[in-house]
Amino acid sequence: MQKIIVAIDGYSACGKSTTAKAVAARLGYSYIDTGAMYRAVTLYFCEHYVSLTNPREVEDALKKIRIHFTYNPALCKSETYLNGLNVEDEIRKMYISAKVSEVSALVPVRREMVKQQQLMGQKKGIVMDGRDIGTFVFPDAELKLFMTADLMVRARRRQMELAGREEFIGIEEILDNLKKRDFIDTTRAENPLTQAKDAYVLDTTNITTEEQVNYVADLANSKTIAKNAVNVNRS
Ligand code: DC
Repeated sequence: MQKIIVAIDGYSACGKSTTAKAVAARLGYSYIDTGAMYRAVTLYFCEHYVSLTNPREVEDALKKIRIHFTYNPALCKSETYLNGLNVEDEIRKMYISAKVSEVSALVPVRREMVKQQQLMGQKKGIVMDGRDIGTFVFPDAELKLFMTADLMVRARRRQMELAGREEFIGIEEILDNLKKRDFIDTTRAENPLTQAKDAYVLDTTNITTEEQVNYVADLANSKTIAKNAVNVNRS
């Protein structure tokens, strides 16, 4: 059975990673959280005081950054490593969220991350989430989703997620952060967040995680069957 690429794009805190992770587990695919890659770059830039307005510093820093994901069987999830260190918790903190959209708007950062993401998807069998996966990283992905949700619902979800990590942030600060990131993510010059023409739109405001996962997994199964049927007919 030939595998496919599932590309999930959308705004922050719409449930992309929760859905993508669960769909990948059902399909037996790898899950790649591209937001985590941009967050890891942001952490490196913060720790090394990289000036975002100095292209040379940015290029030099990028050469020193190695990002990989390792599955943690105890927690049943894949975790992000930056230069060999587990940074999964650190990159989810609010100070990284406050800076990540600026860092991810930089052209050299995007070019490097996109290159690495395309390599990860070479053999297909992946569910990748982000902002430009169906439009730019894998424009030929067999299945594309564009996820949205009401802004206040997104803010409450993000607030609960942060509280689960012992970070207690007021709703106004989270709303401001989401609005600012939506603005930068959708208006930057390089690969802005847009809906691919052939993407299925999934509004998660009033549906459960299970409904989201069932919807995407069912679509993925039918796309896989269609792809393999085409290949049988050709052979
Ligand atoms: O999915 P997330 O909220 O963890 O992503 C963090 C930021 O990374 C997001 O505000 C924009 C950026 N990002 C991006 O520019 N392109 C991607 N493919 C994924 C994330």
